[in-house]
Amino acid sequence: MKLLVTGGCGFIGSAVVRLAVARGHEVVNLDAMTYAANAANVAPVASSNRYSFEQADIRDRAALDRIFATHSPDAVMHLAAESHVDRSIDGPADFIQTNITGTFNLLEAARAHWMRQGKPDSFRFHHISTDEVFGSLGPEGRFTEETPYDPRSPYSASKAASDHLVRAWHETYGLPVVLTNCSNNYGPYHFPEKLIPVVILNALHGKPIPVYGTGKNVRDWLYVEDHADALLLVLEKGRIGRSYNIGGENERRNIDLVRTICALLDEMAPKATPYADQITFVTDRPGHDARYAIDPTRIREELGWRPSVTVEEGLRRTVRWYLDNEAWWRPLLNRQGVGERLGRA
Ligand SMILES: NC(=O)c1ccc[n+]([C@@H]2O[C@H](COP(=O)([O-])OP(=O)(O)OC[C@H]3O[C@@H](n4cnc5c(N)ncnc54)[C@H](O)[C@@H]3O)[C@@H](O)[C@H]2O)c1
Repeated sequence: MKLLVTGGCGFIGSAVVRLAVARGHEVVNLDAMTYAANAANVAPVASSNRYSFEQADIRDRAALDRIFATHSPDAVMHLAAESHVDRSIDGPADFIQTNITGTFNLLEAARAHWMRQGKPDSFRFHHISTDEVFGSLGPEGRFTEETPYDPRSPYSASKAASDHLVRAWHETYGLPVVLTNCSNNYGPYHFPEKLIPVVILNALHGKPIPVYGTGKNVRDWLYVEDHADALLLVLEKGRIGRSYNIGGENERRNIDLVRTICALLDEMAPKATPYADQITFVTDRPGHDARYAIDPTRIREELGWRPSVTVEEGLRRTVRWYLDNEAWWRPLLNRQGVGERLGRA
């Protein structure tokens, strides 16, 4: 298949690009190269004759029309987004413009392309979203695909809006869409403003390891390469108009996750004192959701997918990757906002 992947120089998008090329798909990577992008993320496939790159902004409809006309993709995998909750608290405008208006532009460009092709049923618009659209859970229960939306941050509200647009384009125009809502990803190539790389890199630099609030917030952690695998499966086998929740079945309190990473570093990069001594509790994020948990029954029963990696194994691989890839992360530490406390409102 020829895939148009948006946001393919970001964390998850690049995992999708690498896996799709490895599986024999042709990939056109469309990315605006914001602060979160990194060309090095796709270096392993950049010289493949199945890979091409288009620097473009999804807010630019004319650029999207040109790219659809040039490449005539069989499917779109839409991952381009502003993705950092803390940045959405400080500056929500970019989230509204990219995540909502950008998705609208992409839907319209995709619809025009699909109509020019004679509305083939085989076309897919796969929208990649987050479990954060469902809001916050108490100690019990899990998000299913039927859970009502209840977003609480500018980021999750903008993603919820984009999910609604995608469903509406299916119901109104018949565009063959699939949606996925996924839990927190982690793994190689994760931009060093998100929790797990921050923990690893602050630990290695002898800096305080910040944990928001009391560290009791619970997240369900999914190894990014498992997510990429699930996304390609949903693209190929998912039912049109349907959404699938994707989770790692690995719920952890933030503080326990951070302690596990510290213990892995004690083992792999030992120093005189335990890394956990650097843990520092800091003022919580406003509106910090207490718990997210995914019920993955639908994707497991309909498509036979389950994660291949436990959080212990995935964290071990991730810590090893950061220890071995300083040349990847060192230049990113100079990017705007990295290493600063953002999102205190
Ligand atoms: N990271 C997670 O844990 C997680 C979990 C569930 C869902 N998601 C969703 O998956 C997608 C990818 O997340 P990520 O963590 O890889 O994000 P990321 O921030 O690492 O990457 C986003 C990419 O999109 C590009 N981009 C941003 N604005 C753009 C624009 N206007 N036009 C074109 N490209 C633009 C950036 O340059 C970057 O390469 C997002 O839609 C996000 O909402 C993320």
